[in-house]
Order: sequence, then C-alpha cells, then structure tokens
Amino acid sequence: MIFIKRPEEIEKMREAGKLLANVHKELKKLVAPGVSTLELDQFVDEYLQKHGATPEQKGYKGYKYATCASLNDEICHGFPSKKKLVDGDLLKIDMVVNLDGWLADSAWSYAVGEVSDEVKDLMKATKEALYLGIDQARVGNRLGDIGHAIQSHVEALGYSVVRDFVGHGIGKNIHEEPQVLHYGTPGRGTRISEGMVFTIEPMINAGNYQLKIDSNGWTARTVDGSLSCQYEHTIAITKDGPDILTEQDGR
Ligand code: MF3
Ligand code: CO
Repeated sequence: MIFIKRPEEIEKMREAGKLLANVHKELKKLVAPGVSTLELDQFVDEYLQKHGATPEQKGYKGYKYATCASLNDEICHGFPSKKKLVDGDLLKIDMVVNLDGWLADSAWSYAVGEVSDEVKDLMKATKEALYLGIDQARVGNRLGDIGHAIQSHVEALGYSVVRDFVGHGIGKNIHEEPQVLHYGTPGRGTRISEGMVFTIEPMINAGNYQLKIDSNGWTARTVDGSLSCQYEHTIAITKDGPDILTEQDGR
C-alpha cells in the first residue's frame, strides 16, 4: 500500500530533507585526499546529533554506520573505513536522516581531488539522469516515465542502469511502496499522484550493470570493475510538480 502524505507530514519531511542537504554541503568541504570515510561518517553522526536528528541507517538490518560510503567500482552500501581517500577517487555517500520520526534519504557523488574525465563525465550524466527522472515525477504520469527518462539518457552515452537497487516510497519507514525503477517503458507502471513521497536514486555504471555482493554481505560492486556513480533525492509529488525535499541550493 502506498501511504499518501498530508501537507503537514511533507513539511516534517522537508525539515529532515533540509538538514540532510546541509550535511551534504558540509561533506563537500571535507572530502579530500587523506581524509577517511570513517572520519566523514563520524562527522555526519555528530552533526545529526547536534541538530536533534539521528542517522536512520545505523542499526537498520544490522547496518553499523550512519552513512554508506562507496568508492569507485562500489555501487552502494560501502562501509566507511579508515583507509584514506586518494586523488581521483569517485566517492558516493548515502544517508537517511530521521528528524522527529520523519525521514529523508539522499545520496551524493563526490570527486576526490583531481579526477579523470571519465569520472567527470559519468558524474555529469548521472546527475542529469536524476533530474530528468525528477522532471517526470508529475501527477498523472506513471513510474515508467521516470525510469525511461533515466535509462534513455544514460544508455545513449554508453552507460548502464543498475537493476538490483531501486528508489522507494519513504515516510516514517525507509522503504515503503512503491518501488521506483530507474529503467522502464513510458506510460507503464503505477500512476503518480499527489502526496506520494519517494526517492529517485539512479546507480549508473560506466560498464555493464551486473553486480556482485562482497563477503561482508552488504557492499555491491560492478562485476566488470567499471566505475559506478549515484545521486539520490527524496521527492514529494504536489499538484504543481515534483518538490525536491533534499535539494541543496545550486545543485
Ligand atoms: N539509503 C538506502 C537507500 O537509498 C537505504 C539504506 S541501506 C542501509 O535505499 F542499510 F545501508 F542503510
Ligand atoms: Co539512500
């Protein structure tokens, strides 16, 4: 069942989303060669605590960290670690903020130091795909319109869309209905209606979309060793269009 959110509930989620956006803005200043993702994770944990929020991922299905920190060929659910970031790394940081019982979810990609054109191009295409998907998140459209917008953009550039992880409804729980696929057919799938709140979070690989899970039981990485990139926002559907609850000013 899809839980439709009332305007006052969306306002609560917007507060969580604003805080999450601010965390990403802070991370942007901190990410650099020599810094470890465990240090970044500790920063996030403390920042949220200081602002009266909690990291919802910590303790979720036994997950131990405030953030997921996935590097290069890691697609998602990377564990923060003591290893120092190095020049040229492509880092994805994903987190869910809980503020007064309402959640927001946003992942962002970070270039560490000076990165290759391959990394820059993949980051650009993935962010574009997210916003093309968001633009389809309108009353009367269907979820397949979102997936199609994302898939057609990145496949035209020779990239692929990860199939095994999808966007999701969100509210008081991390994962609610509906599932939001990042590939699909226009005009197919669940009809989008006012008051839905869901994430759009395309994971885009430079190579093919096959993945494998590390022996830690969590971390997904590309089978072909190619780079993977992700951007994610939490979106509320209003009668006037998509409302990005985790938007950082300036994107
Ligand atoms: N942020 C993830 C998502 O986008 C969900 C959390 S997975 C976790 O769906 F277990 F690592 F927390
Ligand atoms: Co997420």
